Amino acid sequence: MSLDTLNIGVCGVGTVGLATMDILMRQAEVLEARSGKSMKLVHVGARREHPDHDYGDARVSRDVMALAEDPEIDVLVELIGGTSAAYDLIKRAIQQGKHIVTANKALIAEHGNELIALAEASGVQIRFEAAVAGGIPIIKALRESMAGNEVTEVAGIINGTGNFILTEMSTKGRAFDEVLAEAQSLGYAEADPTFDIDGTDAAHKLVILASLAFGVPLDIESPFKQGIDALTPEDLDYAAEMGYRVKHLGIARQQAAGIEVRVHPTLIPESKQLATVDGVLNAVMVTGSAVGELVLVGPGAGGPATASSVCADIVDIARSPLGSGPALGLPAASLNATALIASDDIASEWYVRLTVADRPGVMSNITQTLADRDISIESLVQKAPLSGQSEVPIVLLTHQTPGSVISEAIEEITGLPDVQSDYALLRVESFEH
Ligand SMILES: NC(=O)c1ccc[n+]([C@@H]2O[C@H](COP(=O)([O-])OP(=O)(O)OC[C@H]3O[C@@H](n4cnc5c(N)ncnc54)[C@H](OP(=O)(O)O)[C@@H]3O)[C@@H](O)[C@H]2O)c1
Repeated sequence: MSLDTLNIGVCGVGTVGLATMDILMRQAEVLEARSGKSMKLVHVGARREHPDHDYGDARVSRDVMALAEDPEIDVLVELIGGTSAAYDLIKRAIQQGKHIVTANKALIAEHGNELIALAEASGVQIRFEAAVAGGIPIIKALRESMAGNEVTEVAGIINGTGNFILTEMSTKGRAFDEVLAEAQSLGYAEADPTFDIDGTDAAHKLVILASLAFGVPLDIESPFKQGIDALTPEDLDYAAEMGYRVKHLGIARQQAAGIEVRVHPTLIPESKQLATVDGVLNAVMVTGSAVGELVLVGPGAGGPATASSVCADIVDIARSPLGSGPALGLPAASLNATALIASDDIASEWYVRLTVADRPGVMSNITQTLADRDISIESLVQKAPLSGQSEVPIVLLTHQTPGSVISEAIEEITGLPDVQSDYALLRVESFEH
């Protein structure tokens, strides 16, 4: 790397790639002043022609692997996504002595341990600020700004599509399918939105956050995952009547027995800042031993916001080519696997919605079944029947109960006469520390 110029290669000219090149060109003077180096886009990997795009003086290759082999490139920016071609590309570029910047959460969650170790052994940096919560600098916050803390918890709204859907359902009473279709037409959701909806995308990000927070290796198998597709507007309304908002949260928590890593719809008291983060915004709450509770809120996706994080990583590399510390806060060999606490063993308060026949004795059978398992009830309310139905919903909140115990109780209750098999069971998190 020359002392006065950083040569950059960008692979992928989609939403984030184009926005990144735009910042590199438009903000060239500021970036040079801030990093002490001139940022030069020397090579672009675009697998098809984009006649409308201006790459300045940069060479263009149809095969992105050409950038991994290009001796002129100091930093290869991977913005093609996916876990196969991107894996080969980054691995080869590291072997060729290039620093890496990527926004690819799936790749880091699945192959990060290997790629980070390889980068360390090769004396290059791999940076992925944009991979979690888009424009929010949460990785830098955990890796650098909170280095003096023992982090005990990270909890966040880390998928903007899911948050948009839940916000529309709860504020306007709209049905899940209808809002999902709108999210797709607005470009928030992927053409195949499965990973946004079933929690896979949030789980990829949470795996990275858990590693940074607790010094554990990246473990793609660790998160418990529950999506948002089974939620109804009625559940969101009932939760609101009790003073809660429902958010699709990723939660990683350090306990004496190990760590919890889970993604699921969660009732949060409306007084908590996370509960007020609506629409496509993301938010991450971190609790540290010294600093206490921090909440970072901002755009979790979108070209310019994500490119903001990509460019921050490029500037970091330009400023300190020897590195500003290990990619996950600790050298790869010092990351220490910790016991994972199974979801069944995690206790919390619970929101339960059942649908029952409006007959004497039904309630007492339900409360008796809960009492038999030492599940104490914080509140129980019978709601008005939904239009056209004779059965009535009942909604109850429990005190702290392990997942396995409440699941067994609900299975028995939904087998009782006069109780329908359909139900909702959601964790409540008050985040009282
Ligand atoms: N979009 C966001 O808001 C956001 C936020 C955070 C992180 N990210 C991450 O950023 C990365 C890029 O996302 P994006 O939204 O910019 O995706 P995108 O708009 O779909 O762009 C991807 C680009 O990569 C190209 N590409 C894909 N596979 C390729 C291959 N094998 N060889 C060469 N080019 C290839 C595509 O080419 P074609 O045009 O020919 O298909 C396209 O130009 C992903 O890892 C994503 O998870 C995105």
